[in-house]
Amino acid sequence: MPLPTLLANNLTVPVISAPMFLASTPSMVIETCKSGVVGTFPAANQRTTEGLEQWIIQIKSALKKYEKTTQKKPAPFGVNLIVHKSNLRVNADLKVLVKHQIPLLLTSLGAVSDVVDSIHSYGGIVFHDVINARHGKKAMQAGVDGLIAVSTGAGGHAGNLHPFALIQELRTFFDKTIILSGCISTGAEVAAARCLGADLAYMGTRFLATHECKINDEYKKMIVESTANDIIYTNAISGIPANFIKQSISNAGYDLANLPKPDGFDIGAEMSDENTKEKHGNIGAKPWKDIWSAGQGISAINEVLTIKELVEQLKKEYQQALTIK
Ligand SMILES: Cc1cc2nc3c(=O)[nH]c(=O)nc-3n(C[C@H](O)[C@H](O)[C@H](O)COP(=O)(O)O)c2cc1C
Repeated sequence: MPLPTLLANNLTVPVISAPMFLASTPSMVIETCKSGVVGTFPAANQRTTEGLEQWIIQIKSALKKYEKTTQKKPAPFGVNLIVHKSNLRVNADLKVLVKHQIPLLLTSLGAVSDVVDSIHSYGGIVFHDVINARHGKKAMQAGVDGLIAVSTGAGGHAGNLHPFALIQELRTFFDKTIILSGCISTGAEVAAARCLGADLAYMGTRFLATHECKINDEYKKMIVESTANDIIYTNAISGIPANFIKQSISNAGYDLANLPKPDGFDIGAEMSDENTKEKHGNIGAKPWKDIWSAGQGISAINEVLTIKELVEQLKKEYQQALTIK
């Protein structure tokens, strides 16, 4: 399917570096966009709406400066907004995103037509993440420009459908942009996503293992050393099903065979600095900060690279895969 004008002929490889809670930062977004891949971050990575506005100003001015000094057009950037009743900042954050006319909004959980209309009012676009056709139809009705198909094995809050099945189902009713998310770590896998009928690949875990990503070195080491079997899909940590590295759960003091009962999803609690002792079996470990998420595509990640090196590698692998007869 044709890409929205914003993204057509504008990317080194058809990839969005996916938003990651606590991991994505402005410097990561700036480096990613400079390398020709869409850089994104969750609004929740900033503690306040004022802080969010500062980040957007920082990103916009760095990309503007880059374009002016190099005469090269960077890829556009995007911001992820979790549209859920427990996110008390939704309206205030949205106001800031509209004020600064961010190019791309990525919504999670709720697909709301008011949110879509606000972004469309100045020509921005909205992609919404879904794990099944039912959510996809709701998002389509809300008027989104693209569906992010979050399949099984993805880092973060993953789905449970195989990507073949999920893309197939979404394509029966949706003819706009589809972005495939889940286990895409190499350029060959980006090409595979396109063969399946997706227009873009959404890559999370692979970008965690970059020098610009601010997660700690121990987390990066675990990503490089782990394989798919080291990932557990559970709703015990974040209240809704997500993939985490087993070793980080054990290191935080949990018994993998006896994880706490899920207590519902509360983004307010996940965003807060307080520890979650009462909610999480009296261990006091914080999901995402102390317990580390990654997808099953971890097996293909063998080294920490700069974002520039990673994008060059993805481009090479992608072009090679396209020449297979
Ligand atoms: C550490 C981590 C944090 C994440 N946080 C978010 C988030 O805040 N919002 C969101 O929409 N997706 C989040 N995700 C999901 C990613 O945006 C993306 O869908 C996923 O990482 C793609 O699968 P992959 O990791 O196998 O490439 C997160 C993923 C990881 C690994």
